Amino acid sequence: MTVLVTGGAGFIGRWVVGHLLNEGNSVVVLDDLSNGSRENLSEFSKRSDLTVKIGDIKDKQTLSDIFRTDIEEIIHLAANINVQESIDNPRKVFENDVIGTFNILEEAKKADARFAFISTCMVYDTASSGEAISETHPTKAASPYAGAKLAGENMVQSYYHAYGLPAVILRPFNTYGPYQKTTGEGGVVPIFVNKELNGETLNIYGDGNQTRDLMYVEDCAEFVVRAAMSDRCTGQILNAGLGKDITINDLAAMICKDRSRIKHIQHIHPQSEIPRLVCDRSKAKKLLGWEPGTSLEEGIGKTREFMNLTRR
Ligand SMILES: NC(=O)c1ccc[n+]([C@@H]2O[C@H](COP(=O)([O-])OP(=O)(O)OC[C@H]3O[C@@H](n4cnc5c(N)ncnc54)[C@H](O)[C@@H]3O)[C@@H](O)[C@H]2O)c1
Repeated sequence: MTVLVTGGAGFIGRWVVGHLLNEGNSVVVLDDLSNGSRENLSEFSKRSDLTVKIGDIKDKQTLSDIFRTDIEEIIHLAANINVQESIDNPRKVFENDVIGTFNILEEAKKADARFAFISTCMVYDTASSGEAISETHPTKAASPYAGAKLAGENMVQSYYHAYGLPAVILRPFNTYGPYQKTTGEGGVVPIFVNKELNGETLNIYGDGNQTRDLMYVEDCAEFVVRAAMSDRCTGQILNAGLGKDITINDLAAMICKDRSRIKHIQHIHPQSEIPRLVCDRSKAKKLLGWEPGTSLEEGIGKTREFMNLTRR
């Protein structure tokens, strides 16, 4: 298949691209490099079945140029992912993540292409104690980032119902691994591993009792590609995650054995924090036979190994 991957030069995108190429697909990447990089794709630079276009999903001309190629499948990952930035600048996230998604949907409709929208677990309300979050769990737009993702999901569903667009909505839980940034645009695992490797203090926002369900990125990429290609998933919303959560306190202790280097600091956006996130992934198992293959310990080990090798 010829697959367009928006945001393909980003963290999850580069693994999705690798997975698609390994399975014999032709891939077109569209990325404006606002948070991605060409280096993320350097492993595939000699592949004749990969085309990389630097451009913006908000630019209609760029999109119509790309859709001159016969695109059969779209995996839409491009988004502004920084929750704090979405609180500081909601217009930017609205234009990028909602209008950008609308632009891609319009092209998908014209091209009659399949469409996989990468939403997020951040659209969910917190899990009450002990309960894993299934796709029917209540949503809560606790930040403009989550609000924009929910708006995007609604538009995708409207194209499925009104035009029969073969679309699926995917809600990965927090994903980590090699190539993820160690800044605010990154994730908690590489931020903590980087601090640990540099002999620095690991800062925890708030009391650290908030939990996350952390999925290794190669498991996430496999899930995204399989769900995007599956007829059984058309019209569905699907979660993916490890199925176990860990408090940020326990995560920090797992990564850094020296307790004196772990500190609690004031949360930057407590109002948008989700206290407990744990994934019920039984629907993905039922529809796709998908389960994550990497434990948290293994995934942190792989992330640390990569960061050790690429440290300057
Ligand atoms: N990382 C996670 O834990 C996680 C969890 C659930 C869902 N997601 C979703 O997965 C997707 C990818 O996340 P990521 O962690 O790889 O982030 P990322 O920032 O590394 O990837 C997003 C990519 O989109 C590109 N992009 C942003 N705006 C664009 C635009 N207007 N035009 C073209 N390209 C644009 C960026 O340059 C970047 O390369 C996002 O939609 C995110 O919301 C991520």
